Amino acid sequence: MRKHIVAGNWKMNKTFEEADELISNIMDKLEEVELDRNTQVIICPPFPYLEMASDFSDDSYFMVGAQDVSEHESGAYTGEISAAMLASMNIEYCIVGHSERRAYHHETDEQVARKVDQLLKNEIRPIVCCGEVLEEREAGKQFDVVRRQINDGLFHLDAEQLKQVVIAYEPVWAIGTGKTATPEQAQEIHAFIRGLIAEKYGDKVAKEISILYGGSCKPGNAKELFANPDVDGGLIGGACLKAEDFLAIVQAF
Ligand code: 13P
Repeated sequence: MRKHIVAGNWKMNKTFEEADELISNIMDKLEEVELDRNTQVIICPPFPYLEMASDFSDDSYFMVGAQDVSEHESGAYTGEISAAMLASMNIEYCIVGHSERRAYHHETDEQVARKVDQLLKNEIRPIVCCGEVLEEREAGKQFDVVRRQINDGLFHLDAEQLKQVVIAYEPVWAIGTGKTATPEQAQEIHAFIRGLIAEKYGDKVAKEISILYGGSCKPGNAKELFANPDVDGGLIGGACLKAEDFLAIVQAF
C-alpha cells in the first residue's frame, strides 16, 4: 500500500526561536495522537533550521525535508546547497520544482530533472511539484501543462528511481489564495498523473507512487480532499505554520 504523506512546506517563515517552538509543539502533539503506521509526516523548514529539525527526526513516521537543492554537484555556486550536503545531514526528502521557484527563479523542467538526479544520487527522495496557473486552467490547458512537467522532469528515470519520487499537484491558482481545488478537480488531475505513470512504467509502479495535493489545504477541507482514491496526502503551506492546524491535517485520513 502506498504511503499517506503530509508534508509541511514552511517556505520563508519563522525565526530560529519560532522554528524551535513550532517543531517542539508539533512533536508534543504527534506523541498524543494515534497515527496509522502508513502515514508519513514531513516538515520542510528553511535551510538554517534543518539540523535542529533533523534532531527530532525518528527515521520512522516523522522526517525532515529541504525546500530546494542545487542542480550542481559541488563547486563555485555561491549561495547554493548541494544534495550531498543535505544527505550528510540525514535529510530524507526535498521539494523540487515548486511553482514559486518556477515563477520567481525561472526554474525550468530541465533543471527540475537535474535536481531530481542529484537527489536520487544521494538517496534523498524528491517531492516534485507540478500544476497549472490560472490562465492555463481557464484555457483548459491543465492536462497539457502537467503532462509536460511530469514528462520533462521525471520520465528520464528508470522505474526503480521513479519509485523513490513523491509527486505534488499544486494548482498555482490555489496556492496561498484560500481558493482550493474541489475534491473532484484534485481527483481528476491526480488520476491523470497516475495514468501517465501507468502508461510509461506500468500499473504496478503507478500504484506505488504517492501523489499529494497542495494549495490552500487546511483542517476544514483536508478530509474531503484526502478521501479521493488518488489523493495520497498533502503538501501544506500556510496551515503548517500552526502545530494544531498541521496536526489536524495529519489526522484527516
Ligand atoms: P498554501 O497551503 O499556503 O496554499 O501553500 C501550498 C504550497 O505551496 C505548499 O508547497
